Amino acid sequence: MMTKTISAADMRKPLNLLNKDFIDNKFAYYKWLRENDPVHKGKLAVLNIYLLSQYNDCVDVLKDPRIVRNRTTATGGGRFPVPLPKAVNMMVNSMINEDDPAHRRLRMLVHKAFTPSRLAYLDERLETLTHELLDRAEKKGTVDLINDYALPIPVTIISEMVGVSPDETPQFASYMEALSTGLSGFTIAKTMFFDLPKAVTFCRELIQRKKADPQDDILTALIEAEEEGEKLSEDELIAMVFLLIVAGYETTVHLITNAVQTLLTHPDQLDRLRAEPALLDSAVEEILRFNGPIQGTKMGYAMEDITINGVTIPKGKPMMPLLGSANRDPAVFENPDVFDIGRTPNRHLGFGQGIHYCLGAPLARMETKVALKNLFDRNPNLRLAVAPEELQIQRIPAWHRHVSLPVTFG
Ligand code: HEM
Repeated sequence: MMTKTISAADMRKPLNLLNKDFIDNKFAYYKWLRENDPVHKGKLAVLNIYLLSQYNDCVDVLKDPRIVRNRTTATGGGRFPVPLPKAVNMMVNSMINEDDPAHRRLRMLVHKAFTPSRLAYLDERLETLTHELLDRAEKKGTVDLINDYALPIPVTIISEMVGVSPDETPQFASYMEALSTGLSGFTIAKTMFFDLPKAVTFCRELIQRKKADPQDDILTALIEAEEEGEKLSEDELIAMVFLLIVAGYETTVHLITNAVQTLLTHPDQLDRLRAEPALLDSAVEEILRFNGPIQGTKMGYAMEDITINGVTIPKGKPMMPLLGSANRDPAVFENPDVFDIGRTPNRHLGFGQGIHYCLGAPLARMETKVALKNLFDRNPNLRLAVAPEELQIQRIPAWHRHVSLPVTFG
């Protein structure tokens, strides 16, 4: 990645976020877009979409109340460009696709459930969990770090956060997988008509049990949370559980994975971190900037014709701020293609910006810091088990995700 130079000829056609060449060379494409066509009329599969690549435009759009997430508000048409089955609707009709004031109400309610004492409990839990996972993984010598370490961390944390019992966790984990990846591959029909309805039923039963027997978990807190005399309906509760999964599962897996991959391929920075452990906080911020898992936000729709950087986006048309490109914009970051774990200031957009700024950012930072600290402390000789060029990036738009990360401990 980064080595290819993009030419005007490469960009003759509108850029499709699913294009394999783009996925493999995204930072080179971003550079071309920022310099030549910062408000680009591109594509997401068959959908026409405006792609914003400069930092300041991305921030402006994410703070502009004339650009909404709820497509109906902007277009008068359906919530999504195509009609969706009910269970899928429950997943997509969450607050991340909603605008104020409806969004504010939902966000306040879930915010109340993320108390400092619950985070403190999860911090302790992460310490034991990461050591348990490493005890098992290190014995194998060589592992795929995703399967053996990065993935079980959020699976366990989200299950415990929601209050799923240990014997139900494997079942719940299969729903997490379906919600997170099932809608982007060949399994899409099975996911929509089989897995998601089953996940809805599972959540309804779980909610009934929590109502009858409240526990110290986030689902119970969400059931009890009230904002101006109003509580979440059962459908809203399920949508919120789904959102916590969709927003908090693969993001964490791939933040941890990208962090390990980036540090192992920048040994000078890894040595610096080992010599100065206090740099861990800024190292995590730099990974979010340099190789964050989320490269673009959910789509926003213009409520009226809006001119950005000289280009008029017509009313009702979708747009996407490319966070990964904003994070490499030289207008804001000095030497943006240099990975510097001590970078300061670092006003990256890895957690988004504006009203949809990541609600789980404190948890995500905590999970990543504990995961990295224990992995590198215990394994001074950790290294990639394949050449860096062999690592593959998944073909999923607006993400930066590795297919696997083979590492050797010894
Ligand atoms: C680990 C790395 C993570 C990254 C890089 C990340 C990134 C993001 C980004 C970029 C957004 C804004 C999306 C947009 O504007 O469309 C977002 C929103 C959100 N994130 Fe995270 N996230 C992470 C982890 C988590 C975790 C662990 C949780 C909770 C368990 C979480 C919960 C949320 C929620 C609920 C929203 C929507 C907020 C709203 O609509 O107001 N995230 N995240």
